Parts: sequence; structure tokens; C-alpha cells
Amino acid sequence: MRRRAAFGVACVCLLAVAALPQQVSAQVRSKGAASSSGSSAPGSSAPGGRTQAVDYAQRFASTCAACHGANGRSDMAGTPVLAGQPSLYAITQLFLFREGRRSNEAMTAVAKTLSDDDMRGFADYIGTLPPVPAPAPAAAADAARMAKGRSLAEQHKCVYCHGSNLEGGQQVPRIAGQKEEYLQASLRGFKSGTRPAYTQAMVSAVSQVSPEELDTLAYYAARFTGGAAGK
Ligand code: HEC
Ligand code: HEC
Repeated sequence: MRRRAAFGVACVCLLAVAALPQQVSAQVRSKGAASSSGSSAPGSSAPGGRTQAVDYAQRFASTCAACHGANGRSDMAGTPVLAGQPSLYAITQLFLFREGRRSNEAMTAVAKTLSDDDMRGFADYIGTLPPVPAPAPAAAADAARMAKGRSLAEQHKCVYCHGSNLEGGQQVPRIAGQKEEYLQASLRGFKSGTRPAYTQAMVSAVSQVSPEELDTLAYYAARFTGGAAGK
């Protein structure tokens, strides 16, 4: 009963936040349509060869992979895993960086150079990258801390938006297997306001969570490997 009521609330939330990124996407898409030639149907084989997927795969390899890794997971500190991120989430964040609303020296410099078509192309490409599991950890996960993280994720409804496998979808990012220090910094940033979000969803989600609990959630999500693992 309680679960159902809570889920109802989360659905309303999701509907409200879903509308906004779609607007960005639509805005970007319609602006892009003016400068690009007509149909962007995937797989359409125009005689000129509009091989956009291949094009952005190559551009990702030359422009993004140095930091984010060829497969979307790098070892570079502070650089998030992109593999497995939904394209709608990716385009929203590229937009925030380009407009200077989300700021990071390295990433903002890159985003400033992107056209609307580029943001769409890179985001679509990111959406095709399969999730890459984290390298085997040096030490086994602390079972008590994992259990605590799991119950916090339920208590604070993280799972209602990020999914029971923390895999995300649409405008909601995958957090399973993301780097711990990046998760920690993001969660603290939403709470302190240093990471402006696209909607209020995350800001209100973390408002009642203590910094110590946020760190436990980061620990848990970074090590989460599937439904059974956290049980
Ligand atoms: C010089 C290193 C560097 C390069 C090159 C770079 N990035 Fe990033 N990127 C970062 C860092 C660092 C962050 C995290 C910023 C933060 O902590 O706010 C980031 C964040 C992102 C995010 C948000 C991820 C999330 O989980 O919120 C996306 C999407 C992204 N980059 C895409 C790209 C794309 C596409 C390219 C190539 C066009 C690219 N990046 C090139 C360093 C880089
Ligand atoms: C109402 C839906 C909702 C709830 C509840 C929610 N999230 Fe989120 N989360 C989002 C959305 C949407 C974003 C994208 C942030 C933005 O607006 O830019 C996000 C972003 C994040 C990020 C940033 C990931 C990245 O790659 O940069 C982390 C980490 C995160 N959430 C963890 C959590 C945790 C932990 C909880 C529970 C305490 C939680 N979320 C609860 C919707 C939600």
C-alpha cells in the first residue's frame, strides 16, 4: 500500500521532469533541421551517404575518447563513465555545459565548440555505447555498507527514478557502475548548489539526505552490479 502511494508520487514527478528535456531536445532538433538536409531517419541510405553514426563514432574517438575512453569508460580521475548513459540525459548535460549552466573547465571548453547537430550526434552516439562494468575492485565490497546503501536508495526513492537496477533511462542517468568519487561529487554538488541541475528533481531528492548518507549512496551505486548483488 505505502509502496503504491509512493510510486504514484514518483510517477507524477517523472512526468513533470520528462516534459522539460524533451523541450530541449525538440528545440535542438528543430533548430538543427534548419541547417541540415531533411530526413534524419536512422538507417536511411541517401546517395550522398549520410553516415552520421559512423561520423560521430569517429569524432568521439578523436575528440572525446582522450578523456572519456574509447569505450566510454576511462581511468582519468573526475571523468565520468559515459557508456550506458541514455542519449536524452547526455544531450541535456551537453546543453547545460554549452550554455554555461553546468560548469567544469575541461568539459565546458569542449561543449562551447559544439553545434546543435553535434550535441545531437554525440548524444545519439553515447546512447549506443553498451554499459562497461567497472574493473574488478582491489577489495571486496563492505557488505554492511552495501546493505545500508540499498536501504537508503529505497528510503529516498532513488530507485523510483533511476530504476531498481540503477540503470536510468530517458532524462535520468545510469548511476550503477559510475565512478564513486564522481558520484560523490555530483551528489554533494546537487545538495550545495555547485552542480546546477536541469530540473529540481535531484535537488529535492537530496535535500533530506545527510552528506554521510550521500557518500554511502555513492559507495553503493559505484559497486552495484545487478539486482541480486545488493540483496
Ligand atoms: C579534457 C577532458 C574531456 C574531454 C576532451 C571531454 N570531456 Fe566530457 N567530461 C569531462 C569531465 C571532467 C566531465 C565531468 C564534469 C563535472 O564533473 O561536472 C565530463 C562530463 C561529460 C558529460 C556528462 C556526464 C554525466 O554523467 O553527467 C557528457 C555527456 C560528456 N562529458 C560528453 C563529452 C563529449 C561528447 C565529448 C567530446 C565531444 C567530451 N565529453 C569531451 C571531461 C572531458
Ligand atoms: C524524481 C526523480 C529522481 C529521484 C527521486 C532521484 N533522482 Fe537522481 N537524477 C534524476 C535526474 C532527472 C537527474 C539528472 C540531473 C539534472 O537534472 O541535470 C539525476 C541525476 C543524478 C546523479 C548525477 C549522475 C551523473 O552522471 O552526473 C546522481 C549521482 C543521482 N541522480 C543519484 C541519485 C540518488 C542517490 C538518489 C536518491 C537519494 C536520486 N538520484 C534520486 C532524477 C531523480
